[in-house]
Amino acid sequence: MRKTRRPSRPTIASRSDRYQLYLDTVQSPESDVDFFIRAYRNAYPGNGAPRDLREDFCGTAAVCAEWVSRHRDNRALGVDLDPEPLAWGHEHIIDKLKPEQSARVDLREGDVLSCRGPRADVLAAQNFSFWCFKTRPELVTYLKRARANLKKEGVMVLDMMGGSEVMEEDHEDVRREKGFTYIWEQKRFDPISHDCEFRIHFRFRDGSRLQNAFSYSWRLWTLPELSELLAEAGFSSSSVYWEDEDSDTGEGNGVYRRRPNAPAEPAWVAYVVASK
Ligand SMILES: C[S@@+](CC[C@H](N)C(=O)[O-])C[C@H]1O[C@@H](n2cnc3c(N)ncnc32)[C@H](O)[C@@H]1O
Repeated sequence: MRKTRRPSRPTIASRSDRYQLYLDTVQSPESDVDFFIRAYRNAYPGNGAPRDLREDFCGTAAVCAEWVSRHRDNRALGVDLDPEPLAWGHEHIIDKLKPEQSARVDLREGDVLSCRGPRADVLAAQNFSFWCFKTRPELVTYLKRARANLKKEGVMVLDMMGGSEVMEEDHEDVRREKGFTYIWEQKRFDPISHDCEFRIHFRFRDGSRLQNAFSYSWRLWTLPELSELLAEAGFSSSSVYWEDEDSDTGEGNGVYRRRPNAPAEPAWVAYVVASK
């Protein structure tokens, strides 16, 4: 008798959603928005709260959603080249807001270099996305356009990572989460050009994987380069906000403060805030 093969069960990877996994592991829109408000207040202590956010490279626009949920007068413009994360964000994040909140989010498919919109109090470019600009002229052009998209009193908030570990090749950071493992891979780093490739993978308890769920080809910029380029682009000042250390564990505690100098940690993430 011929045996019929039982259909194989779908793997956890095949049933997983890479955008949801990214949101759960990489992003923290609440702490980003808390930080934007604090950075704006530090830059312009005499002003009221910032109301208009522009999120360049917004992906699924999770930060826009958090912004509009904070106050009924908050508005957000999100810009991304890729229709796929925008569509995912619409369906899974923006459409789940209250209608009066989602009405204050404007998502646009377009290039951050050319997409014009209302001027913002805070213009955010998160998760190192501006590293896609690999030369000084390209990055200065972007920073100038970003500056033009700010109100007279507005801040641009960028994040940066660095440290000796970030310049290693074939280096993996592995983090166990509930039910899966998150892997940040530094695939390639060229010390001459600072061209680098990063990848995100997810591994599941049944052994299945979402390999190369996200891949990035970037230039690793340094803090002194960025602060010089912000000045070249016309920003009046910029500051680095460095993460405080938890006194017990020695790990970062999620609180970022303006600092002129910092210890040479092997891997760090910092915010840079530039005032128009
Ligand atoms: C690293 S993801 C960041 C997504 C999100 N901002 C976050 O914090 O997680 C980079 C995003 O930038 C978008 N992107 C790359 N170049 C762009 C450009 N020139 N204009 C607009 N979006 C761009 C990509 O489509 C991608 O969604």
